[in-house]
Amino acid sequence: MRWDPAEYLRYGDERLRPALDLLARIDAAPGRVVDLGCGPGNVTAILKQRWPGADVLGVDGSGPMLERARAAAAGCRFAQADFGGWTAEAAVDVLYSNAALHWLGGHEGLLPRLVGQLAPGGVMAVQMPAMHAAPIRALQHQVAAEGPWAPLLAEIGGAPPILEAGQYWDVLRPISSELDIWETVYLHALSGENAAVQWASGTSLRPFLDPLPADLRAQFLAAYSAAVAPHYPRRADGTTLLPFRRLFIVARR
Ligand SMILES: C[S@@+](CC[C@H](N)C(=O)[O-])C[C@H]1O[C@@H](n2cnc3c(N)ncnc32)[C@H](O)[C@@H]1O
Repeated sequence: MRWDPAEYLRYGDERLRPALDLLARIDAAPGRVVDLGCGPGNVTAILKQRWPGADVLGVDGSGPMLERARAAAAGCRFAQADFGGWTAEAAVDVLYSNAALHWLGGHEGLLPRLVGQLAPGGVMAVQMPAMHAAPIRALQHQVAAEGPWAPLLAEIGGAPPILEAGQYWDVLRPISSELDIWETVYLHALSGENAAVQWASGTSLRPFLDPLPADLRAQFLAAYSAAVAPHYPRRADGTTLLPFRRLFIVARR
């Protein structure tokens, strides 16, 4: 999948808030910090500000995202790797991941493996959207299956559903000395035309758009916009409200 940092950062303020809420819950004085799925690096830079003496490493699978991150986060190191195969060079004190791990399935194995990368007493802090059933996500699959683009999108799954909160508890509790899991529904107040579609175009819609030639992409976007519009109407002041459920996990080894 091809990431576009500029498109992703269009709603940067809204996307930053859960990252900061997660950061606020980490009680640590780390030497080694990893930002897994660091994307454009704006949050990596904040991790470095919070712990200036730490070695902060951003890891991501996307070349364009890493290019942006290197420019955004002075004093941090970056590496290109897939979450699926990534292992730490040395035990990590804070393993932070904001809005990234939901792109990969198999969390019953992945999250315990990540806790295994922590030093004793180290903290894993994860935030992921829990939006699989919401119209903005569910309609992507529905529209993908229904138009002339359907044969080209037949194999596209998008980001898989994350687990239920209780399932994360069950896999992480036996290997955590402390565990805190919570959910928050943010009411993102978006400005601009067609805002819910613009939001999705920076993230969850990308796997559906990338495989299509320009003409079909435009038709798909029009059909998706029409399907989504009634669920996210503009308010009298022009704002579009996007309810967005996010799951947070803070686990100490
Ligand atoms: C929505 S962005 C989040 C970026 C950043 N953490 C933030 O808070 O703004 C998700 C990032 O995860 C990366 N990503 C998704 N799946 C990945 C995988 N399997 N391996 C490595 N990186 C992946 C993408 O390249 C993208 O930069």
